[in-house]
Amino acid sequence: MDGIGGHIDLTDLERFADGFPYAVFDLLRREVPVWFHEPTAHTPDGEGFWVLSRYDDVVAAASDAGTFSSETGGARDGGGTLIEDLPRGFAAGVLLNMMDDPRHAAFRRLLRPSVAPRTLRLIEDDLARRAARIVDAALAKGECDLLVDIAAELPLQAVAQLLGVPQEDRHRLLEWANVTLDYDDRELGQATERTRQAAAEMFAYGSGLLADKRETPADDLLSLAAHGRIDGEPLADLEQTMLFNLMIAAGSETTRNSLALGVLALVGDPAAWQAINEPSLLDTTVEEMLRWASPTPYNRRTATRDVEIGGRTIRAGDKVTLWWASANRDERVFTDPYRFDITRHPNPHLAFGRGGHFCLGATLARMEMRVVLRALADRVAAIELTGPVEFVRSNKHTGLRHMPVRLEPR
Ligand code: HEM
Repeated sequence: MDGIGGHIDLTDLERFADGFPYAVFDLLRREVPVWFHEPTAHTPDGEGFWVLSRYDDVVAAASDAGTFSSETGGARDGGGTLIEDLPRGFAAGVLLNMMDDPRHAAFRRLLRPSVAPRTLRLIEDDLARRAARIVDAALAKGECDLLVDIAAELPLQAVAQLLGVPQEDRHRLLEWANVTLDYDDRELGQATERTRQAAAEMFAYGSGLLADKRETPADDLLSLAAHGRIDGEPLADLEQTMLFNLMIAAGSETTRNSLALGVLALVGDPAAWQAINEPSLLDTTVEEMLRWASPTPYNRRTATRDVEIGGRTIRAGDKVTLWWASANRDERVFTDPYRFDITRHPNPHLAFGRGGHFCLGATLARMEMRVVLRALADRVAAIELTGPVEFVRSNKHTGLRHMPVRLEPR
């Protein structure tokens, strides 16, 4: 069965240059749901990894952090949640999302007040006003780039507000995040002069901002990190700065891609576009866009002990990838999974992951999507593509670089 591996290379980014390769995963779910991906010329560290593609297997692994670590496992030095090993003590074990309990749980508890639904409800009206201004500005242009002018803008303003980043700096942050997250000029596991410089500038900016927050705390997430304590000790400076990097990346990339790919699914479907005017369908539309877009296609874990899944034995230290995007098209769970259905309910998608690392920004992301969709539905009668969309070349983020459109006002 593993013979199909000869034809599939999930580390060849050309496979992802036109969007997520769903057909490949249909085959994997059907033929080899627990598959060992042998290393190819593209595979970082020259080391193979397991690929879990079915919903139930992905949920089981994500829900068992003791066996499937986000930090490391076995005798390996590095770890983390990307296919390539990241160094321990710099990324693995330092970034909130690449850390295991109990420190991970304590870190999350510290940040929870900033992302609690109660806190976020206080900013919803402000976000709605911002969304309205963003859509009005795009409408005034007539033709615009839906990704850049609309989908990217509100999440960026929201994450700046959440973290306590001055709004005037937000585009610089977006530029740094774009450079470090896209693979337009490199392959997996490689850095270029451009990505190194962007990462260094972002790191320096975050360190400076956190130093300010330590001096003068404000009512924002970075101040919580700068002043918070775990077991009586302040967070290490590196932990704080890496949190800043994580939040900028997580907060700016994913939501915009759910919005853009979700709106793309609605373009050319005038009935669905009219239907999103119906307030009762707003929430199910948002969930379907999340399932549909699955902007974070996978996260990796490392097995901490030998474990059997689907009759295959995974050894302690093996890399195991959990493909949320594939689980979100699993025909065992979703009826007619390739139909974009804004009335789908229930919709137990895994776009935000599952288990202890479930997305910390999920409530905010849903709110951002709601306010942008409402602003679009109120103001825009129709959206027409004026050119081809351009996908990000990555197996870690599914999304668009550009989506040229003409907006017809209501
Ligand atoms: C549609 C938008 C979003 C999607 C699809 C998404 C997806 C995900 C996924 C799949 C995970 C789990 C990672 C894992 O299990 O290894 C995650 C974790 C996380 N997300 Fe999101 N995310 C979104 C928006 C956001 C936003 C807006 C923020 C912050 C403002 C954010 C911050 C985080 C953080 C900090 C974690 C790590 C949580 C932990 O490890 O405990 N995300 N996200």
